[in-house]
Amino acid sequence: MKVLATRRYPGPAFDELADVEVQALADLESPRPEVEALVVANEPVPLELLPGLRLVANYSVGYDRLGIEELARRGVAVSNTPGVLSAATADLTFALILATRRRIVEGDAQVRSGRWTAQWTDGFLAEELTGSTLGIVGLGRIGQAVARRAQGFELRVLYAQRTRAETDLAEYRELEALLGESDIVTIHTPLTPETRGLIDARRLALLRDGACFVNTARGEIVDEAALVAELVSGRLRAGLDVFAHEPNVPAELLPLQNVVLTPHLGSATRQTREAMTRIVVDNVLAFERGDPLLTPVTV
Ligand code: DGY
Repeated sequence: MKVLATRRYPGPAFDELADVEVQALADLESPRPEVEALVVANEPVPLELLPGLRLVANYSVGYDRLGIEELARRGVAVSNTPGVLSAATADLTFALILATRRRIVEGDAQVRSGRWTAQWTDGFLAEELTGSTLGIVGLGRIGQAVARRAQGFELRVLYAQRTRAETDLAEYRELEALLGESDIVTIHTPLTPETRGLIDARRLALLRDGACFVNTARGEIVDEAALVAELVSGRLRAGLDVFAHEPNVPAELLPLQNVVLTPHLGSATRQTREAMTRIVVDNVLAFERGDPLLTPVTV
């Protein structure tokens, strides 16, 4: 089975693909009817250039950019990489919570610039993490991994999501109530038509003064312009790993001291990225044998 991969994905499993060609989608110039499987990292699939496509093996748990409805209409099977990136993404979420809340990046900048002259007793006062309230929007695999870490930090943990869960990890709140009651809000819902723009200007305004907003899910879940306005005003703090138009980041955020910015690093550990490749390859091999996909995406 002819496989097209949009890059060499990390780890030894990638070499198990027998007939694979590595090429970026932007470099496809003419139709490639012989390609039956495509390995992509949540990129729009150009079906007009791949008329023989039967499988999209997505190197990502999120599949919001693939064009999933059209793939389903054409009968193209789709897999993703759930589970293996939950720990890494939850770790990064906590790194952003700590960095934002304890002003670590501001402090680092001061030390590097040689401006650290005051006594340690002055400046950079932050709010204590222990005893704060963490609001998790979306208690799926990653949200639960965040809630487990929060217990170690002695946080009070709330969650909001469409369907109420049977869980001891967090207390349920309606979204609006969670936003108003939390010191830190972290987003862990997938991007779907229902969650696009979920955190809009009205909901951002419900956040407490000085609250910390963290997003390691998808930039489009938040009204980015409204978030930027809140951050420019200095009312909120934020730790952001995802943006609406990656790799472009709103220029207004760059000089702000109350924001920590990372370049979509949620799953960026060697172990996680190699495990993602393992799942992608196992799905391609299962499909080639005529077996069910290990981690199918259903619309
Ligand atoms: C995913 O898998 O959806 C992530 O965004 C990759 O880090």
